[in-house]
Amino acid sequence: MAILDKHKILEKNATLLLVFSFLVVTIGGIVEIAPLFYLENTIEEVDGVRPYSPLEMEGRNIYIREGCYVCHSQMIRPMRDEVERYGHYSLAAESMYDHPFQWGSKRTGPDLARVGGRYSDEWHVDHLIDPQSVVPESVMPKYGYLVNRMVDGKYIEDVLRTNALVGVPYTEEMLENAKADFDAQIDPWGDTDGLLERYPGAQVRNFDGQPGISEMDALVAYLQMLGTLVDFSTFEPVASR
Ligand code: HEC
Repeated sequence: MAILDKHKILEKNATLLLVFSFLVVTIGGIVEIAPLFYLENTIEEVDGVRPYSPLEMEGRNIYIREGCYVCHSQMIRPMRDEVERYGHYSLAAESMYDHPFQWGSKRTGPDLARVGGRYSDEWHVDHLIDPQSVVPESVMPKYGYLVNRMVDGKYIEDVLRTNALVGVPYTEEMLENAKADFDAQIDPWGDTDGLLERYPGAQVRNFDGQPGISEMDALVAYLQMLGTLVDFSTFEPVASR
């Protein structure tokens, strides 16, 4: 056929072949990438997912500062062994407010994406102070000093504002109440209506059992909420609806 004969020209001329290959890859690339610029959002919205409360955000920052992600991932892959061990596979929406995300690539320790509610606060505090006291063969370092380092939430509004700047939908009301919500989450006898309205499902209690708000409180508040926002008894992925 005539057109296939013409193809011979391309096959015999390396430069021409290169030029045409480049053309094909360019068109293919544009077709794949261009639509992404016109999509508002590539993440399926899921009920229950909300921005971090101020105290959880403080805990998250401590988690990052201490390098917990060096040994722990936060992404359960949709494979049977992982789902049986850790629970429902992670949804994109569950880390949509993470800046930066904590998926991680190293599992010296277990995945933490759904560690929330798996242990008591006391377990977490004991474990963070001295991991070997609860898991004798553990290679996790000790983080006991977190109990004695107090946090005052002085800059928490700025932290939330920075997150708002990169797209986390904190409302002006959330930002203005950041410090108050920060204090409220640790005080079971305080006024927590506003906090719970702004951050449904936020867990309110004194996490480390000591007076004042310590870095331990913030970190345990963060660990205890991980993976708990989506109710998987009612969740159905869009594709199967
Ligand atoms: C040197 C690696 C390493 C670092 C760094 C590390 N961990 Fe771990 N972590 C482990 C290992 C190993 C285990 C499993 C044994 C155990 O439970 O102690 C573990 C277990 C855990 C568990 C229990 C998980 C479960 O499902 O049983 C939690 C929670 C945890 N780590 C939190 C943290 C936090 C928070 C930090 C940062 C402050 C941190 N880890 C830093 C290695 C590490």
